Amino acid sequence: MTYILGIESSCDETGVAIVQDGTQIISGIVKTQTIHEEYGGVVPDLSSREHMKIIDRIAEQAINTSGLIMEDIDAIAVVNGPGLVGSLMIGLMYAKGLALRYNKPLISVNHILSHIYANILTYKEVDFPLIALVASGGHSSLFYVKEDFSMKIIGKTLDDAAGEAFDKCAKMLGLGYPGGPAIQKYAENGNPNFYKFPRARIKNYDFSFSGLKTSVLYYINEKGEEFVKENIHNIAASVQEAIVDQLINKLIISAKDYNIRNIAIAGGVSANKRLREKLQYIAKKNSLHLYIPEFKYCTDNGEVVAGIGYIYYKNKDFSNMKLNVYSR
Ligand code: KG4
Ligand code: ZN
Repeated sequence: MTYILGIESSCDETGVAIVQDGTQIISGIVKTQTIHEEYGGVVPDLSSREHMKIIDRIAEQAINTSGLIMEDIDAIAVVNGPGLVGSLMIGLMYAKGLALRYNKPLISVNHILSHIYANILTYKEVDFPLIALVASGGHSSLFYVKEDFSMKIIGKTLDDAAGEAFDKCAKMLGLGYPGGPAIQKYAENGNPNFYKFPRARIKNYDFSFSGLKTSVLYYINEKGEEFVKENIHNIAASVQEAIVDQLINKLIISAKDYNIRNIAIAGGVSANKRLREKLQYIAKKNSLHLYIPEFKYCTDNGEVVAGIGYIYYKNKDFSNMKLNVYSR
């Protein structure tokens, strides 16, 4: 049996988990920072400070609840990018400290790939190759992923990420932060066809959400506060629909063009109910095999880091103490 301890601190979640043989969760603790709510977005300096304050407590809890001791752990896996440099640094320094003190190999994990691994944790067995949509606060990308978790990027956002679009639109509509869950909540009893916000028309598999952001701003200015307040459920549903449609559209088209049967979603935005439901329907219509991760693995967490770390462990793909962080 192999036990990997995984550490995540790339944005506003501090997560530590222990996973056995890549798929069996032994323990997992994650804490989301709430300090950013009043700013309507993650403030990098505050984020690193919060990680700094609690990372040892989160790690201790993950170890204590696992029933294991550090000597049982086979390797330390840590996300070293992409993400907020100061925040990543806290996780990496903590990981290096553990690796040195307990003489364990250190494994570096790519944050975006770790999101895709949420599907392996959910399904245990997944058919490859697959096309994965990673939609989070920092990324909207399409990846061609092979069994060994090597990947090729086939589409990316030209401006904002999908989660960022949710967050910015929610802020403009006065719905609070994080914007994705807020818009989803308001959209629940709204009409998604109330207003057709523009869907970007880009020829390849790239995304763009800045046009949507601008059109939401114009819409609010044109219609006025009163109207927006009265129709907030319908407007939230319409904004959500515009984001979801673009994500689904590119995922389906790329799978068809690449002649791939398996598709997956990942990242914070993959928790979106409308995306999950609509994509399920459309995937079925197109005879595609869709993987959707469990809610708890959609946002940042240590479990996916420890899980993917196992693949690298088996390949003896270790890092040395010079390992650094990167933002993108
Ligand atoms: O993957 P994640 O936890 O962190 C990053 O790596 O960025 O994603 C956070 C993003 C935020 O922008 C948040 O608004 C969005 O995911 N999000 C959602 C939902 N839950 C989280 N977006 C839409 N619907 C949701 N239910
Ligand atoms: Zn993430």
